[in-house]
Amino acid sequence: MTVVAVVGGQWGDEGKGKIVDLLAERADVVARCQGGNNAGHTVVNPLGEFKLNLIPSGVFDPRRISIMGNGMVINPQVLLAEIDNLTSHGVDVNGLRISDRAHVVMPYHVLLDQLEEEARGARSIGTTRRGIGPAYADKVARIGIRMGDLLDEETFSEKLATVLDQKNHILKQLYCASPLSYDDLKSEHMRYARRLAVHITETTSIMHQAVADGKHVLLEGAQGTLLGVDFGTYPYVTSSSPTAGGACEGVGLGPTCLDQAMGVFKAYTTRVGKGPFPTELANELGDHIRERGSEYGTTTGRPRRCGWFDAVVVRHATQVNGLTSLAVTKLDVLDGFKELKLCTGYRHGGGLYKEMPADLEVLTDCVPVYQRMKGWTASTTGATTYKQLPVEAKRYLTRIEDLAQCRIDMISTGSKRAETIVLRNPLDCSRRRPGRR
Ligand code: GDP
Ligand code: IMO
Ligand code: MG
Repeated sequence: MTVVAVVGGQWGDEGKGKIVDLLAERADVVARCQGGNNAGHTVVNPLGEFKLNLIPSGVFDPRRISIMGNGMVINPQVLLAEIDNLTSHGVDVNGLRISDRAHVVMPYHVLLDQLEEEARGARSIGTTRRGIGPAYADKVARIGIRMGDLLDEETFSEKLATVLDQKNHILKQLYCASPLSYDDLKSEHMRYARRLAVHITETTSIMHQAVADGKHVLLEGAQGTLLGVDFGTYPYVTSSSPTAGGACEGVGLGPTCLDQAMGVFKAYTTRVGKGPFPTELANELGDHIRERGSEYGTTTGRPRRCGWFDAVVVRHATQVNGLTSLAVTKLDVLDGFKELKLCTGYRHGGGLYKEMPADLEVLTDCVPVYQRMKGWTASTTGATTYKQLPVEAKRYLTRIEDLAQCRIDMISTGSKRAETIVLRNPLDCSRRRPGRR
């Protein structure tokens, strides 16, 4: 029995979907914990290539339970389209369970996300415009509508009437936008409810039962630590906690249930959207990484900003997540580079930062300190054993382990499930839990 959280260590898109799909082969339950369809997790397995926005990456085996946790915000229209797409590719989604506590992303959230972004002008965050921030804001303001509310027409109608009044006021007065129709929203969502009802349930007890029964459980994080509302580059962040702690909260497991926390990192760094990125290569080298790594957003298609691996980020992520191991992805993208650089600190105002600063100005204006490393010419693409890697690649990875103070358990060398070096499977690393004798 092992409970493993798999979380993003950088600014998202680290390859969490690929890693979870591989680990899920041995898991009984896979749960998404936070975020919504701002996420895009690519899975390439024997059934094909899939871009999952909401459904956990473990959905491909019907014997497995896939949970969409209480910490998520869910757009039911997008979810139904995702279910239909999977079903049309022969994927059986009968094992899907949606927490009745998860919040609904309503059309006014999507609209307000777009209007707020436009109103910010040059200070826009570069959100995915999927309504994620406004939905979490309503959750915290205690005016959110939950997935369970969809199942009770009276409750839903009452909540919608109150909140829509407020939203329409904002739409009209603040943004001179057209109000939304109560009747249209109600009938649309009652339609969604009829289709989703079989999946919506109390999911926390399923998680607890799985732990009690000694099952293998994977918690699939979305986004990445540096996009987190507490430990990210605030305010250029998303509106949830993509950490291992956030993963526990997002499914209703206590932190003492976690056996392992694996952080997923690209062998370099990318970021999509605005905000500081100290090791960014806004030049030809960055363009070269983008093309080699196909670094375009899974959800929005936006080009991703690319840069060198940042060890300040990896140390920060190791600490705030309590990582027990790392998975390093996209090593193959670095094949053929003469020289690689690893950022070991930031210089700013005469000082040297070895820990991630909270100050946006420092992060924006700092000069990264680099260690140069020799690159490799041989191909690592598709390598499945450590022995196959060139000595320079091994040195690069060892240096990352030293700087992170955390071991690497998995190395990914291609987008397909099999293109992976598994040094140790975190599901094999259970730990005795306190509590029962
Ligand atoms: P996620 O959001 O963390 O699940 O990551 P995304 O799916 O948004 O982005 C990762 C991209 O890299 C996807 O297109 C994956 O198919 C691809 N990918 C994952 N691992 C590897 C790898 O080791 N090598 C290469 N070349 N591509 C990879
Ligand atoms: P996965 O799970 C990369 C970024 C957006 C923007 C910021 C806030 O695929 O790694 P939001 O719409 O969440 O309010 O946008 O967060 N962002 C992501 N970037 N991968 C993601 O998810 C992201 N989810 C949000 O680009 O900068
Ligand atoms: Mg992604």
